[in-house]
Amino acid sequence: MTDTGWQQQLRQIRTEALAALDAIRQRAGMAVTSAPERETPTPPGQQVPGHAPAADGDRALDEWRVAYLGKKSALSQVLRQMGGLPPEERPRVGALVNEVRAELEQAYETVRRELHEQALARRLAEETIDVTLPGRSHARGAIHPLLRVIAEVEEIFLGMGYEIAEGNEVETDEYNFEMLNIPKDHPARDMQDTFYLSEELLLRTHTSAMQIRTMERMRPHAPVKVIAPGRVYRRDEDDATHSHAFMQIEGLYVDEGVRMSDLKGTLEAFARALFGPDQTVRLRPSFFPFTEPSAEVDVRCIHCGGSGCRVCKETGWIEILGAGMVHPKVLDGVGYDSRRFSGFAFGVGVERIAMLKYGIDDIRAFYQNDLRLLRQFARAL
Ligand code: DAH
Repeated sequence: MTDTGWQQQLRQIRTEALAALDAIRQRAGMAVTSAPERETPTPPGQQVPGHAPAADGDRALDEWRVAYLGKKSALSQVLRQMGGLPPEERPRVGALVNEVRAELEQAYETVRRELHEQALARRLAEETIDVTLPGRSHARGAIHPLLRVIAEVEEIFLGMGYEIAEGNEVETDEYNFEMLNIPKDHPARDMQDTFYLSEELLLRTHTSAMQIRTMERMRPHAPVKVIAPGRVYRRDEDDATHSHAFMQIEGLYVDEGVRMSDLKGTLEAFARALFGPDQTVRLRPSFFPFTEPSAEVDVRCIHCGGSGCRVCKETGWIEILGAGMVHPKVLDGVGYDSRRFSGFAFGVGVERIAMLKYGIDDIRAFYQNDLRLLRQFARAL
């Protein structure tokens, strides 16, 4: 092949390759390159109108690279045929081939970058978001007033060295009644109308069952100091002061030498922490089968300070809990020898405390999930 023959062949390869590259650009919707020295127009059949998706452009570009720069390309074949040339011509032809290859490689790089930028621009345009749209606001929750009271009471007793325990809402007759000295057919059972699940299982009517469970767990260690908050159930008709489900906090302190004065001191500290430093408590004799002696415990009316008002029914006192010295039968029944150990227990009605603290006059308000009530607790804790 003559020298011009080589040149012509290379020029043709170059022209065809650049035209094919242009066709890819056009199909991707880009303007045709105005290459002044381009000799032949884009070959027919390679110009497809309309925009091809970006992935098509990438694939076509890959195929182009294989066809024009790959091992089986016309350019590589020219190199392979160089062996048949007179040795003195080889460097010139080789240089020419390299020149064309370099130009094609550069053209390839340019189009590849263009395609990439175009794809990026398209994605940015498609994914534009309108930042002026008002956002969706997240409703802020609030701690329920009953849980706030529980948290506060827990905090007070943690400070006095008590631990916190939680029990099951489904309880056995034995723990809920028998071991608390309330045998079957005992009239005290009538005080707590019960939801029975079976002969032996029930929804606990009070958190006092946790006294037994805690002592069983701790035995034979002393002291036992525990606070057990939780939900309890009774077959009561719901009204302004009764709910079939409500919350209690049980307290228990068992050790050697625990006395009634310890109970009173503890409850006084509790009342002061909860209702203010001027509080005093009053113990009135009462009856619970699992304590002896038993007491109902009042605080000075937090509305009138003791002078008498509607809230305290003009008595100046408000009942907040039941308490007493743990009955020897209960201690012995669970393995704490009552000749050595003594203790006190108390049970607080959480709703009652919350109603007093927050001035709520209907217990049902805690369970109706009225946002107007709950929102008032959204601010601080
Ligand atoms: N469990 C009793 C009730 O639900 C409340 C109570 C009274 C608990 C005296 C006690 C206590 O621990 O000592 O009515």
